[in-house]
Amino acid sequence: MDRDEIVCHCMEVSYGEIVAAIKANTLKTVEDVGEATNAGTGCGGCQTVIQEILDEING
Ligand code: FES
Repeated sequence: MDRDEIVCHCMEVSYGEIVAAIKANTLKTVEDVGEATNAGTGCGGCQTVIQEILDEING
């Protein structure tokens, strides 16, 4: 996924922003990412992708 690609269209949050927030704050859950970036807090449709990004980074 490209860093500039928008993951959460409701809140216009990019892949790069989500990755940076997860790494900077050691985020563990989709809810954590929502609190840090607002991603996933609209329709919720991007939450599976946010979970995949969390899994990718946290193993
Ligand atoms: S696309 Fe992320 S909450 Fe709707």
